This record gives sequence, structure tokens and C-alpha cells, in this order.
Amino acid sequence: MRRLAVITGDHGESDPTKLGAAYGEEDLKAHRTMVEALEGLERFDITVFNDHDGLFERLAADPPDLVVNFCDTGVFNRPTRELNLPAWLELHDIPYTGATPQAMVLCFDKQIVRLVAESLGVEVPGEHFLASAAPGVALPDLYPALLKPNAADGSVGITKDAVVRSPQEARAYLDFLHETLPGRAVLWQEYLPGPEYGVGLIGNPASGLTVLPPLEVDFSKLPAGLNPILSFESKADPDSPYWTEIAFREARIETETRERIAGWAKLLFARFGLQDYGRFDFRCAADGRPKMMETNPNPAWAYDGKLAFMAGFAGIAYPKMLERIVDAAIARVTAGG
Ligand SMILES: Nc1ncnc2c1ncn2[C@@H]1O[C@H](COP(=O)(O)OP(=O)(O)O)[C@@H](O)[C@H]1O
Ligand SMILES: [Mg+2]
Repeated sequence: MRRLAVITGDHGESDPTKLGAAYGEEDLKAHRTMVEALEGLERFDITVFNDHDGLFERLAADPPDLVVNFCDTGVFNRPTRELNLPAWLELHDIPYTGATPQAMVLCFDKQIVRLVAESLGVEVPGEHFLASAAPGVALPDLYPALLKPNAADGSVGITKDAVVRSPQEARAYLDFLHETLPGRAVLWQEYLPGPEYGVGLIGNPASGLTVLPPLEVDFSKLPAGLNPILSFESKADPDSPYWTEIAFREARIETETRERIAGWAKLLFARFGLQDYGRFDFRCAADGRPKMMETNPNPAWAYDGKLAFMAGFAGIAYPKMLERIVDAAIARVTAGG
């Protein structure tokens, strides 16, 4: 039996992508469900690492056949250290699932992703790059706008007030960003008010890339007055209407739009060198045209994450989705990729 090391975030360390910066019951449930699903496949001998103390020593002392890299929080839950794990694994010739450090570096910089996407013919929102949110920075004349950190995940720095319609609102939100994420560059993006879609891919260009049925975010139950966005609250606060009133469903879109965003997703997957799985977020402008918001290497693996929903739309149960990711990695590694 192949020996898999499943590595996730460190449950005991603080984590900026979680509410109160700590793992909660929801996170532990997602972790349990994932481990049980992999074990239930009865194909692998599984060791789980959710404590990063001594992680590298343990891996070096007894290298697994494959690391399932579900450490999307970064080593010791530091987002800028997500790439350190695959980089270390490469040095030690230990194969792993998911993206290379190079792909992570590129995709963690949203301005770069947008520029590359645009040059490939993928439509993107209008945008200004602000080197900082400090007082005195010149404000672009683009409203309504969505303000977000250039480099962050899990909607960190995107609260319900991230949509701004005036210089006053913008300055207030920049003050919040300056205070909570000091020194970070900010993207000032055209606010896309239309339907939001996710496109999930599993596999690899060489062995076959499966496009899962796109997902649509259903904001219709969100109380009036709340900006319809997947804010930090939607990902981290089970008591927020952003968590309780937003649902995911299979996208209701015309074939042309579906093919267009699926084609873009495949193009970006190949260009950024993603591996095994990836998720691409799109949202439509006021005129209905979809634009790319984000390219996610190693998207959330949780049973209640977008990728699992999309797999479900295709009739792929959660354990089978995990198995496909692992098998994509095995096929790639076997082929020498
Ligand atoms: N330009 C935009 N227009 C409208 N909504 C946006 C825009 N950018 C981001 N959002 C909203 O914020 C959410 C998170 O943004 P995203 O760039 O995907 O960051 P993260 O890496 O934190 O997921 C999106 O799912 C979407 O709901
Ligand atoms: Mg996103």
C-alpha cells in the first residue's frame, strides 16, 4: 500500500484565515471528514500531520511515498510560507500533490495574475494598484470599487465594507486595511456586481484535465443592504448572515459562457503551471460579461468547500474527489512530471 503523509494547517497555532485567528469546531470537522474519506478508500496507508513542530524532521526520518499537501495555511499557518513546504519536499525528492512553489508565488500576487490573464485574452476587471493604504495615498477615480489586499487568501482583508462608492468610504476602508494589514499593497478593482462563478479542474494537461460543472454563488437570501460578496465573514464566521445566507449551487449559465470560462480556466491552469487541481473565480460585470477575479492553486479541499460542491454536481462524491487528486499526482509523478 502506498504510504501517504497528509499535511494540513497546524491546529494548535494561530491562523489569520480563521475567526479569532484560531481553529474552530467547523475546521476540525472538515479535517476529520477529510481524513476519514481518505482512509475509507482503503488504498493508502495514511499518516496525518496537523502539528508543524518537528514536521520536517519527521518527514526526513521516514519519507512517505507521497505527501498530500493540504497545508493551504502555510507552514505554522503563515500564508507567506505556503510555498516552503513544497520547496522543502522538492529538495528532499518527496513527491506531493498540488502546485509547485513557483505557481504559488505567481498566484499569490493578484496583480501579476491579472496582468498575465489579460495578456492571454482572459477578460479581467479594471484595476489600480496602490502600493500602500497609508493616509495620503492618491485615490483612483473608479467607483464602485472593491478594495482588497494584493496578496491574501481566504478573503482576509475583504469585509462587508470592501465595496466602496465614494472617496469617504474608500478612505475609511483603506484606514481599516492600513491598521489590520500594515504595509500591504491594495488592489482597487472595478466592482463586478453580476453573478459569481467558480470553475474547478482536476487532473493535469498531460493526463487529462476534468472541468467540473461550474458553481454559482447564490446571494439572493442575503439581507438587503449587505454587499453581495464572499467576504471574510462568509468563510470564517458561522454566525454571520454571510455564512448562513449564502449558498452554492450549480451555475445556470448559457453554454457559451460556460465554455468561455472553462477555456480560460484551462489556459490559466497551464500558464501558471498548476498541478492536480485548481479553482478559478469569475464574476460578471454590469454588462453580463464574465471577468476573472482569482486563480487558486491548491483550492480548499474541505467537504463543504467550492471544489467539493462542484465535484458533487458531477456525481463525484467527496472521497472520490480526494482520490482523483491523489491519483492525478501519482500519474504525474509516475510519468516523471
Ligand atoms: N472586483 C470584484 N468585484 C466584485 N466582487 C469581488 C471582486 N473581487 C473580489 N470580490 C468578492 O470577494 C471575494 C473574495 O475575493 P478574491 O479575490 O477571490 O479573494 P480570496 O483570495 O480571499 O478568495 C470574491 O469571491 C467576490 O465575492
Ligand atoms: Mg477567491
